[in-house]
Amino acid sequence: MKKDLLSIADLNRREIEGLIERARRMKKEGMTRLLSGKTLALLFEKPSLRTRVSFEMAMHQQGGHSIYLSPEEVGLGKRESTADIARVLSRYVDGIAARTFSQETLRVLAGYSSVPVINALSDLEHPCQALSDLLTIYEMKGKLTGLTLAFIGDGNNVANSLLFSATLVGMDFRLACPPGYEIKEAILNQGKKFAARSGSQVLLTSDPHEAVKNADIIYTDVWVSMGQEAEAKKRRRAFSNYQVDDKLLDLAKRDVLFMHPLPAHHGEEIYAGLLDDPRSVVFDQAENRLQLQKALLLKLLSNRKVSGK
Ligand code: CP
Ligand code: NVA
Repeated sequence: MKKDLLSIADLNRREIEGLIERARRMKKEGMTRLLSGKTLALLFEKPSLRTRVSFEMAMHQQGGHSIYLSPEEVGLGKRESTADIARVLSRYVDGIAARTFSQETLRVLAGYSSVPVINALSDLEHPCQALSDLLTIYEMKGKLTGLTLAFIGDGNNVANSLLFSATLVGMDFRLACPPGYEIKEAILNQGKKFAARSGSQVLLTSDPHEAVKNADIIYTDVWVSMGQEAEAKKRRRAFSNYQVDDKLLDLAKRDVLFMHPLPAHHGEEIYAGLLDDPRSVVFDQAENRLQLQKALLLKLLSNRKVSGK
């Protein structure tokens, strides 16, 4: 595995399966000392509930330590250059989990840092979310290959990482979005290459009904991501026909899973109350952030072999 995790495309299928297998075993292990003496810096430019708490708990439960650095404190690229911050932090800590506006900031951090850098969400990708979601799907369905995931909404960071994750493990990926909000061409082409290798399919449509037909998983995310607040009105108008409700779930397979990375906006991308539908697994997804990141940190920070075999 590479030093950093900036994109799902940094991983291959075997590495993804190894992380899932290790995370599943970790659920049974509870507290360990496997990262004793290790420290993770959490360098965040945007707010967070799940990512921050799950990374902090992932270090704590393995005997390690974490330091949260808020945007005001560090001033990435403002108070100090990103390159200098990376070089300074590398002298103190064993890893950096960074939540940034641009993917380029992550690339600079990783380039100048001698310790692993983990993408804790950027405008381009959310790899820790997508890997945790694969863990949830595997637990619920007993497999990944051959399933169909229908993403309804914005071709955003979460959609990009899910496209890569699905197509790497042989899962069909469909996106239903209004024209102009598709996944960017370069990402889509990369996803199609992964799909060609794993034997899965990629479908882009503007029709949510077409996307969810026979789907095993229906997934949605916010219409206005962090940093897009100025476009909020325009986006809410563009996505108004893309709300996921129980009737849309009824059009998929009987045992369809409903997924959302959270935070959710009730009455926008989801019909109010949908999180309580028996088909919703959103809180299992949130829990699995902790388990998957424990496996990831063990792999990147301790140089231990993480293998499912
Ligand atoms: N899903 C997720 O990343 O949540 P937070 O933004 O609260 O970390
Ligand atoms: N697309 C959302 C995901 C939040 C976890 C955002 O970037 O704000």
